[in-house]
Amino acid sequence: MTPGEKTVATVDREPFIPTTIYVRSDDTGWLVPLHRGDDPDTWRSHVHSDQPVVTATDYDPRLPEHLRDPTTGRGVMATSSSSGPPIMARMLDTLELEPGMRVLEIGTGTGYNAALLAHIVGDGLVTSVESDPALAGHARAALDTTGYQVSVITGDGAAGHPDGAPYDRVVATAAVHTVPYAWVAQTRPGGVVVVPWAPTFHPDGPLAVLTVGEDGTAQGRFVGPAHFSRYTSSASTPPRSTSCMSGGTPRGSRTAPASG
Ligand SMILES: C[S@@+](CC[C@H](N)C(=O)[O-])C[C@H]1O[C@@H](n2cnc3c(N)ncnc32)[C@H](O)[C@@H]1O
Repeated sequence: MTPGEKTVATVDREPFIPTTIYVRSDDTGWLVPLHRGDDPDTWRSHVHSDQPVVTATDYDPRLPEHLRDPTTGRGVMATSSSSGPPIMARMLDTLELEPGMRVLEIGTGTGYNAALLAHIVGDGLVTSVESDPALAGHARAALDTTGYQVSVITGDGAAGHPDGAPYDRVVATAAVHTVPYAWVAQTRPGGVVVVPWAPTFHPDGPLAVLTVGEDGTAQGRFVGPAHFSRYTSSASTPPRSTSCMSGGTPRGSRTAPASG
């Protein structure tokens, strides 16, 4: 077992998952709610699986209203999910975390990944930014209940969180097509930024690992595929559930593809 896999196996995901999750209907293939109270065994089987668990949804604004059907789930799309434990373990390993490191996570969601980070680096060292106030509130409560001291900030993660900088590590848990420069600027020289990168509309982009240099630029490589939902940006004009986070300027950051 890798250290990341061990962390995921040690920290229970269940206390972080809301009582209502969203699953693909066998009949229609669309996302429908599953309430823990209605079917605790199925709810638990999703939560304890290796799969992502959808925890928040919205109407797909790309569909005309008359094509949306809340009863069948047609037109409903995921806006937040707890990522699959294997990808979370891989990201933890990629970050090469050590106790005492200061970490900024962008995209708190349920708070589970923030708890995994805090489990490794220690209490009071993880800051996590979430744009959805309801999700941020849920994560704060779950982290509090489970005893992890993480600072959850409600806001647009494109700006990072300068008050806590410099960070040893910055990790984004949703895909971006442009790395906001704030993430590079708020990482100490020698520190690492890990970002699922989706340069096109398709969510299956690679995971980019960038090391920040003394000159304020970041360079790195891609370490394999990572399927992530996209960030939304309050600065962008498209509706929140379809746009991809693009806030910040790529000035000074550059990436280099992995060889081989
Ligand atoms: C894949 S989920 C994160 C999963 C989370 N790390 C967990 O352990 O549950 C991505 C999250 O990014 C959030 N998000 C999207 N755009 C954002 C933005 N601009 N700033 C901060 N958070 C954002 C979404 O609301 C969603 O909760």
